[in-house]
Amino acid sequence: SWTTGNVIEEQVAAIREQVGDKRAICGLSGGVDSAVAAALVQKAIGSQLTCVYVDHGLMRKGETEQVEKDFVAATGVQLKVVDAEERFLKALAGVSDPEQKRKIIGREFIRVFEQAQAEIIADQGPAVEFLVQGTLYPDVVESGGGTGAANIKSHHNVGGLPEDLEFQLIEPLRKLFKDEVRMVGQELGLPEEIVQRQPFPGPGLGIRIVGEVTKERLDLLREADAIAREELTAAGLDRDIWQCPVVLLADVRSVGVQGDGRTYGHPIVLRPVSSEDAMTADWSRLPYDVLAKISTRITNEVRDVNRVVLDVTSKPPGTIEWE
Ligand code: XMP
Repeated sequence: SWTTGNVIEEQVAAIREQVGDKRAICGLSGGVDSAVAAALVQKAIGSQLTCVYVDHGLMRKGETEQVEKDFVAATGVQLKVVDAEERFLKALAGVSDPEQKRKIIGREFIRVFEQAQAEIIADQGPAVEFLVQGTLYPDVVESGGGTGAANIKSHHNVGGLPEDLEFQLIEPLRKLFKDEVRMVGQELGLPEEIVQRQPFPGPGLGIRIVGEVTKERLDLLREADAIAREELTAAGLDRDIWQCPVVLLADVRSVGVQGDGRTYGHPIVLRPVSSEDAMTADWSRLPYDVLAKISTRITNEVRDVNRVVLDVTSKPPGTIEWE
């Protein structure tokens, strides 16, 4: 019968068999899937695995530290962190269009990741043959894929790598659903904050600033988002909501009054939603006192924000994210 213990044992044996004395690399996103996949492979092959984490500067408060400290502490994994904030901000300068932002972030991400990958390979030689992916069962079904080992082609030619270098994939979560992945992660000793993490988009806070993305605006949004998350957690609501994007309307200003002065600041939007699979969603009926607390704290503690608004749109017609 299915137990997390069995799944772990089975996968550890299979990965050892598959990898032998070769090496593997794994990209960490900060999300549940890649973290659990990495932890599982780490358990199987230890220091033959190296993880790569690209910090694009669009993460929420404490997220990079969570990977750098908590994840490493829990797993003992070898981690290469690439600080690419400046590069991403430069590429995003002057860009307000949502689709353009997404394209730029995706493109830069692949470039940085492939460069890090190339450096690891240059360091460790031809023994790097495997790439770990946190593919889940629903992903497999959605893309129409069956079983069997897939091969992907690596496009980089940084650092004199052979053009046709191919990685074999290790996908230890291929047969699992999200809740099972969480159980496996828990059994592997990953911290609650990683295992129970709500979905967060790859482009990060870059698509939660309506308007141009700048360091200053990111810092401001990070503060507001941290407050909202703190209060939702304190109220015990994390399991009731699917996620709660916090959005900065950087191109909008409204008049306010604070102390004895007029302000002309930006609104922050709270977008708490409940959902089964993110294909459709409803806005969460959060308790008024929790909303009030979040609103008071954000307007008091975050510079340049003088208004907090609640998004009461379901999906459809609204998407969960604003961009
Ligand atoms: P939307 O806004 O399309 O979001 O209703 C549905 C779910 O997907 C997440 N999301 C993303 N996740 N990369 C991701 O990994 C992305 O580019 C991306 N865009 C949206 C969103 O947070 C929600 O959970």
